[in-house]
Amino acid sequence: MKVTYVGHATVMIEGSRNILIDPFFNGNPAATLKIEDLPKIDYIIVTHGHADHLGDTVEIAKKHGSIVIANFEIGVYLQRKGIDRIHTMHIGGKHDFGDMKVKLTPAHHGSSILEDGQIIYAGNPAGAIVEMDHRKVYHAGDTGLSKDMELLANDYIDLAFVPIGGNYTMDAEDAFMATKMIQPKVVVPIHYNTWPLIEADPEEFCKKVSEIDIKCRVLKPGESIEL
Ligand code: NI
Ligand code: MN
Repeated sequence: MKVTYVGHATVMIEGSRNILIDPFFNGNPAATLKIEDLPKIDYIIVTHGHADHLGDTVEIAKKHGSIVIANFEIGVYLQRKGIDRIHTMHIGGKHDFGDMKVKLTPAHHGSSILEDGQIIYAGNPAGAIVEMDHRKVYHAGDTGLSKDMELLANDYIDLAFVPIGGNYTMDAEDAFMATKMIQPKVVVPIHYNTWPLIEADPEEFCKKVSEIDIKCRVLKPGESIEL
């Protein structure tokens, strides 16, 4: 399985199926990949409604015929945008898609969609655990630190993506505590340095994480990890 950090919070998993999490390309200063360069995307997982996560879901799903996995409210919104392959779930729910499994996890954040100056209710924000090809990848979504993350240690996560940028999410210090609770085999920091407001030092984060014997990798946008 190959997992690519596209940039900001966008992650692509390529294995027996190709999955995009929070596909933010247009307007993403950190994205190195272009929509045109994507392989066939079978599934898109949307953690919450904010523009830097919902991103280009509509365009990509229409182009690839992807199944979009999101909460019910985002599902209804996407249906109105003409997406016909939608699978809605909520936090704590797990679904076996046959070729992979997804479980939505708690995230402490907001999840509205801003359109034409109006706020559209977009349900609760989430994180996601993707299980495919005997590997488990956890994407925390946008979230603050919470003690619930301790439960994720029971999932034996192979690879975890955690936000470190602060202001809207955990900062590096809180992400360190989160990592300690999650106990993944490998952790990769995300959601930082895209804009000045979320500046963080990923190397500093990884140095601290390495001291508690958890592997940490700083991926530049466009870089991948083989699992
Ligand atoms: Ni957000
Ligand atoms: Mn965000």
